Amino acid sequence: MNPLRILMITAEYAPFAKTGGLADMVAGLCGQLAASGHDVRVVMPRYRGLEEAADTAAALKFHAHAASGISPVALNGTHPPYDFLCSGTDTGPVIYQVDAPAFFSGSTIYGGGDTEALRFALLSHAALKLCPLLGWAPHIVHCHDWHASLAPLLLKTHQLHEPVFRPANSILTIHNIGYQGVFSAALADKLGLVETTGLISADEPAPRTLNFLRTGITTADALTTVSPTHASEILTPAYGKGLDALLRQRRNRLVGILNGVDYGRWSPESDPLLPRNYSARDTAGKLLCRTELIRRSGLSAAPDLPILGMVSRLAEQKGIELVLEALPPFLRSSSCRAVILGEGDKPYADALQELANDMPDRFAFIPAHNEALARLVFAGSDAFLVPSLYEPCGLTQMYALRYGSVPIVRDTGGLHDTVSHFDQYSGTGTGSVFRDADTGGLMWAINQVLTWYQQPSAWQQLRHNGMTQDFSWAHQTPQYLALYRRLAGLDPVPA
Ligand code: ADP
Ligand code: GLC
Repeated sequence: MNPLRILMITAEYAPFAKTGGLADMVAGLCGQLAASGHDVRVVMPRYRGLEEAADTAAALKFHAHAASGISPVALNGTHPPYDFLCSGTDTGPVIYQVDAPAFFSGSTIYGGGDTEALRFALLSHAALKLCPLLGWAPHIVHCHDWHASLAPLLLKTHQLHEPVFRPANSILTIHNIGYQGVFSAALADKLGLVETTGLISADEPAPRTLNFLRTGITTADALTTVSPTHASEILTPAYGKGLDALLRQRRNRLVGILNGVDYGRWSPESDPLLPRNYSARDTAGKLLCRTELIRRSGLSAAPDLPILGMVSRLAEQKGIELVLEALPPFLRSSSCRAVILGEGDKPYADALQELANDMPDRFAFIPAHNEALARLVFAGSDAFLVPSLYEPCGLTQMYALRYGSVPIVRDTGGLHDTVSHFDQYSGTGTGSVFRDADTGGLMWAINQVLTWYQQPSAWQQLRHNGMTQDFSWAHQTPQYLALYRRLAGLDPVPA
């Protein structure tokens, strides 16, 4: 095997910095690539406010690396210096954190406002600065989401004078097209870009704006998104969020590769954060997790009623409005219990809190970002809500499957590719799948689950089907490797 040199550029990486699936996906893919013998270097920011907890969780020590730079991105009229901190194990990927306190202070990953443009422009600059400093020539520069989307453009200019970049090809993975990094064009001259015209979009509906994601889509050598179904969806106006026409122009460069799951970190048989472990063969421990979830959330125990769980960013994408409309009738008629763990948009948090105040014994809302509680919800719930309006891949439904919580999902994106509707006559299928993003659709899907739950043998079969699905990175990584090799000219282009 020819080991590949792969540079990954990302805003999130589990467990150092995580708001959602991006962190898990990049860490899972990098872990599998490194375990397969490839030379993987990850560049991410060092978020000053998160560092201690994160380093402890990862049990990794970062040390100062002999490399540093001066930010080409201007902040308050100056160009502050930055350092690289480095950590790695013998077998895993090497992680470089860009330590630029002037840019990455504060306790959040995303702060909003213009500072975000400056922060993430610096991330791409620093990542490309690192390679010549190391004398390391990547075959692939793999950029994730809008935060790393300036790197493909910068790579093209660096390739003119930096020999280490001659063999490099860039890939942009679109995890979430709903977040594009759109800023005023007036910021352009602060971003340290020699060539900015490609950045500025003259297109409606937001003329004269900087759109990081658009720039990445225009300049990357290859584009991926995180499921095959979503790769088709984003070519349509309904899902393309204004970038569908551009994506249609570049469709021959776009491929959908389903995310994997790192079962080393996400399995009920070994999860150290659960009160009791269990497996598909022996589910006894799940009952204890359920009891603990009831205790932690203050629900009243009702053994005959399923507990519906949800762990989610509180964002429009996630179908929170559908939940707010569809769930109360079931709670009122005492047909189920429910618990939602989530952080995000305040109107959703307020509405969920109000529902919890109305029926504290039947519905719990936990307004937090908490990894241990998330795992308790996967393990302690009987069914799991993912009624997304769009979902590029979605990891929570895959975690729910493995933890024996039957997913209730809308038929879109990666949800379509990972969950199939249960047929109790043939005993096939893994969840409850509804098509239309409306209250009636979600109510129908919840009703299905309530019916199956009352039939113990059907329920057992359904849960077992889910727990034995295998979405491991070992299956998914070869698809990235095939793409890398094709770009690097190591494999023939398929006919
Ligand atoms: P997205 O990336 O769109 O948020 P995914 O389903 O791909 O959706 O990934 C979400 C990830 O974030 C999962 O690992 C999930 O467990 C985690 N997560 C979401 N909300 C919370 C929360 N409030 N506390 C802990 N983990 C959360
Ligand atoms: C995004 C998407 C989600 C996907 C995750 C990781 O945040 O919303 O569907 O699973 O990225 O790729």
